Amino acid sequence: MASHDLVLRGGRVIDGSGAAGLSADVAIDGERIAAVGRLPRGSGRRELDAEGFVVAPGFIDVHTHDDRALFVTSDMSAKVSQGVTTVVTGNCGISLAPLTLDRAPPPPLDLIGDERDYGFARFADYLDALDAHPPALNAACLVGHSSLRVGCMRALDRPADEREIEAMRARLAEALDAGAVGLSTGLWYAPANAAPKSEIVALAELLRPAGAVYTTHMRDEAEHVLDSLEESFAVGREADVPVMISHHKVIGKTNFGRTRETIPRLRAAIAAQRIGLDAYPYVASSTVLRAFMVPRALKVLVTWSKSRPEMAGRYLSEIAAEWKVSEADACDRLQPAGAVYWTMDEADVRRVLAFEHTMVGSDGLPHDLHPHPRLWGTFPRVLGHYCREVGLFPLEEAVRRMTGLPAERFGLTNRGRIKPGAYADLCVFDPDRVIDRATFEQPATPAAGIAHVLVNGTLVWQDGAHTGAHPGRALRRQAMQREDAA
Ligand code: ZN
Ligand code: CU
Repeated sequence: MASHDLVLRGGRVIDGSGAAGLSADVAIDGERIAAVGRLPRGSGRRELDAEGFVVAPGFIDVHTHDDRALFVTSDMSAKVSQGVTTVVTGNCGISLAPLTLDRAPPPPLDLIGDERDYGFARFADYLDALDAHPPALNAACLVGHSSLRVGCMRALDRPADEREIEAMRARLAEALDAGAVGLSTGLWYAPANAAPKSEIVALAELLRPAGAVYTTHMRDEAEHVLDSLEESFAVGREADVPVMISHHKVIGKTNFGRTRETIPRLRAAIAAQRIGLDAYPYVASSTVLRAFMVPRALKVLVTWSKSRPEMAGRYLSEIAAEWKVSEADACDRLQPAGAVYWTMDEADVRRVLAFEHTMVGSDGLPHDLHPHPRLWGTFPRVLGHYCREVGLFPLEEAVRRMTGLPAERFGLTNRGRIKPGAYADLCVFDPDRVIDRATFEQPATPAAGIAHVLVNGTLVWQDGAHTGAHPGRALRRQAMQREDAA
């Protein structure tokens, strides 16, 4: 009598739309959800008891740097252990493709790989490699503007000239043809900081006919955060494309409280044009170690150092004291290196998370020796800490911001929702126990309360452990658009 491959029985189904959860069984056939409702006992060849658990769409991590992690840690435990079933790669202007290098990549491109890793001349080669070596979860991939610049320009400290813009447009066009979901910039970072808005618009123009999106790590998230928002909105208007503001925050003590200005400005812009934003649930940020960032931070934790790897996991102030040098000198000696910076105010973090348009993105750095805990903790922290403990929003809303909303913003057709016909990307979690356990001291610690995770109908995480399955795939924009039109 069993007619379905798998039935998740008796859970509280929260479907990703924001609608109230309801008790229901979920049947899965192959890679898709077949039915949601009351199903007779024995209707699944296999059944999993979900009584007392929430059954939600798998979470979509809209802000990642997993471009290479998808290959070298293809089980993607840092993410599937949180219930993440799709990652968006290539953020902050940095993508592994299309770029080949014969010298060390300039920071921050070194966050995701060294010169041997930048080996994909075409974006199609990168996506084909994912097909050939499937990871445990799905990936939707952005093209990084800084990666285009490094590949097409001889000097990065100036605007691109006409020929360089043409070269970058050709690479971006190839990537969009191959299935990239959009373009990202990291205008704050040295390789892209000299790019004027006109250079970004000249590239972003290619996104509109493709139906792709523009994401941006803005030029400034401190004193000039409002100007940077305006610049980002202007790119969206001039190129007529959706804009996603990455990891929205205001940094630096003197700017604490200024999300009181940015959120109303974002709200007004969202009413007028297509804007989205994401955030991670922590008051500390993380990126490459830069001396000029140190005075803005309350403390600085070293996450990796090529020259002094043994210093990963230690505070910069301690290292400087031990070496009897200034913190700036210690920074120099540690290069190239990465760091966690305590630069935000808790009230700002909460204000951004509570904003109804905010999606969740980990911004995790998977290759750091001692990573920021956001890599392993982001999604359970939103569910357990900010939803259950702090009460920023109801559980249905927390789930919507991690599933239905990002699927819609990034054009991930039939993902992020529980409904018949959707892909069976699912997370079964205990709403009373789910919590992040990754800390700044012990960052690579799986969360509690995530019971089962399915990707394309296959269990990748069961009873708190990886199953070894690799059912993920590269999500190509055109295939998703065709499915959307069908
Ligand atoms: Zn960034
Ligand atoms: Cu980032």
